Amino acid sequence: MRHLIDITDLELTEIDGLLDLADDMIAHRERYADSQRGRILGTLFFEPSTRTRLSFESAMLTMGGNVLGFASADSSSTAKGESLQDTIRTVSCYCDIIAMRHPKEGAPVAASLCSDVPIINAGDGGHNHPTQTLTDLMTIRREMGRLDSLTIGLCGDLKFGRTVHSLISAMSRYPNVRFVMISPPELRVPEYLTEMLRAKNIEFCEVEQMESVLPELDILYMTRVQRERFFNEADYVRLKDTYVLTPEKLRLADSRLRVMHPLPRVNEISSKVDSDPRAVYFTQVRNGRYVRMALITRLLEVCE
Ligand code: NCD
Repeated sequence: MRHLIDITDLELTEIDGLLDLADDMIAHRERYADSQRGRILGTLFFEPSTRTRLSFESAMLTMGGNVLGFASADSSSTAKGESLQDTIRTVSCYCDIIAMRHPKEGAPVAASLCSDVPIINAGDGGHNHPTQTLTDLMTIRREMGRLDSLTIGLCGDLKFGRTVHSLISAMSRYPNVRFVMISPPELRVPEYLTEMLRAKNIEFCEVEQMESVLPELDILYMTRVQRERFFNEADYVRLKDTYVLTPEKLRLADSRLRVMHPLPRVNEISSKVDSDPRAVYFTQVRNGRYVRMALITRLLEVCE
């Protein structure tokens, strides 16, 4: 049985295969309409979500499967003091595969150790979010035609932003990728990631200003300041408006640039940017459903 806890659980050839399958699912949706009939996906969300949970559910329903689950910890027996282990042992009796989101880093690994069905990490605290990364990789490949030889700007809360951590892990495996990390000093990428980049001799720089680096980027990956992970509200208030992408700033960037964001956005991208053809964050949303269809399909195949 296979789980997806960390994006590096997948070989690059497996990621390519998932992206190929997701492309095919977009092109020929009708062929997959019954492919998961009789199967059940459990969505256990101990933390808020709109896109991740609903895209998983939409993915399973689109393939003729069914879904069950909960959208917040307080509507489950967690509120009565049940352990994660007992919740997982229980839910794995009711479904064939589980997507889970939890505020504690490492919770999906703990779940995988006591689950009878595949566990998919749909976000664990400020740590990882591998299925958002599959969505991001699919979007980059469809937009740019490749996953190598790219300069990727990551902007905002690089410390707590789990989508950023998984994206760096994934993109650092492709040749000739450079990272430009744009954040205030307090929200820099965790050291374990910069150490990994140094050890692999991958080019990166850390800057505070967005404007000066915009012209050199292929991708600008904006992120929300992760209010829920701050220890004090005053720090959040001080840092929350550090970066706001506007049409005026985007004039500094190349026409080949793509602006990405895992969403939800607060105010870090002006809604006036939405009509710019370089803005692809709602394309990411669309892709998220299909790449999760592909992932569910592959993980369940292994169980057969
Ligand atoms: C992200 C998350 O939950 O980490 N959202 C998502 O899944 N698309 C990003 C965020 O909450 O800022």
